[in-house]
Amino acid sequence: EKVILAYSGGLDTTTIIPWLKENYDYEVIAVCIDVGQGQEIDGLEERAISSGASKLYIDDVREEFVQNYVYPTMKAGAVYENKYLLGTSIARPLIAQRLVHYALLEGAVAICHGATGKGNDQVRFELTMTALAPHLKIIAPWRIWDIKSREDAITYCLKHDIKLNMKKDTSYSRDRNLWHVSHEGLELEDPSIEPDLSKILQMSNTIENAPNEAEYVELEFEKGIPIKLNGKELNGNDMITALNEIGGKHAIGVIDLVENRIVGMKSRGVYETPGGTILYRAHEELEHLCLDKQTYSYKQTLSIKYAELVYSGEWFTPLREALEAFVETTQESISGVVKLKLFKGNIISAGATSPNSLYNEEIASFTTGDLYDHKDAEGFIRLFGLPLRVRALMKMQKNQP
Ligand code: ARG
Ligand code: SIN
Repeated sequence: EKVILAYSGGLDTTTIIPWLKENYDYEVIAVCIDVGQGQEIDGLEERAISSGASKLYIDDVREEFVQNYVYPTMKAGAVYENKYLLGTSIARPLIAQRLVHYALLEGAVAICHGATGKGNDQVRFELTMTALAPHLKIIAPWRIWDIKSREDAITYCLKHDIKLNMKKDTSYSRDRNLWHVSHEGLELEDPSIEPDLSKILQMSNTIENAPNEAEYVELEFEKGIPIKLNGKELNGNDMITALNEIGGKHAIGVIDLVENRIVGMKSRGVYETPGGTILYRAHEELEHLCLDKQTYSYKQTLSIKYAELVYSGEWFTPLREALEAFVETTQESISGVVKLKLFKGNIISAGATSPNSLYNEEIASFTTGDLYDHKDAEGFIRLFGLPLRVRALMKMQKNQP
């Protein structure tokens, strides 16, 4: 019988291979899903095989990640707890979906992942697996085995004759993909401590080190999707990569958040989403121009719910899909060009245009045109204020003897 293992090549997932063989007698098929984590793919196959896997699949899903997960979440304006652009959260359903794909392809009976029993990732992986292939067994070694530390894992591997030539990594717990990098653990676990960003950041400059000159970017959108950067057409992968480069240089999109995890505890993390922060902002500028008042307002409330669903791993759910359908309708008119100025961690609006702009200079300016008669405002305010008038009169009557 076969098991599909979500494999990264790190110590944890390497240790899982002999552990699966010892405890379940499974044939282990390792799968590495490339969402832009950028770690060494070179030598990964050899490492997986020499650790006892019978095969390694490497699956580059970066473009699918951007088109089907990043962009829909961005179009929804989803931000978790007012800060987090959901970088880890959106990758999880895609990774799990690909693991299910390989499980069905290989006729495997189980899927195994290396997420811990305290985190969000286990929930996200397993909800997706449940939604897509409820018959598959799920194995989460961190909830089962006795290994408690790096040292335990190394000892276990040595006992099973697996040679480890890994750099010792005692740094933050990090998760990186095309969209972001997260940092948790060590001194960050104390929220009273200011993070030493000069040591933590991997994609971005600190504000102190960012250039003293501002830089402009121009983004063109079509139906809510960014298609051109500074006049150049780019696919999703190249778009995010280029924006990360520019945003990182100007220290854009670094946040420090104490968040509510799905499993109930609070945790503290630092997140870098340089390109993503620019994209969210540019997209929002166009929505300000093109969405009517009621749609804009309703979409704001929906964004919060959308973010909660994504954070909690509820991607493949009827509600998330229904919200996406709403968002898609609103994006019909979100086309145009947005200019932004980047300077030391700040994004400053520098003008936007759209063929679908609802802004009408003739109405908005003070020289009255045919569409708007100032005298109409008087009657409007009388009716709009009617409930206030009624209440005020009632109060006055009560106060009279
Ligand atoms: N707290 C963030 C989230 O839940 C980041 C998690 C990072 N995951 C990891 N395995 N290090 O989305
Ligand atoms: C993990 O448990 O794998 C990391 C933390 C998280 O999932 O939130």
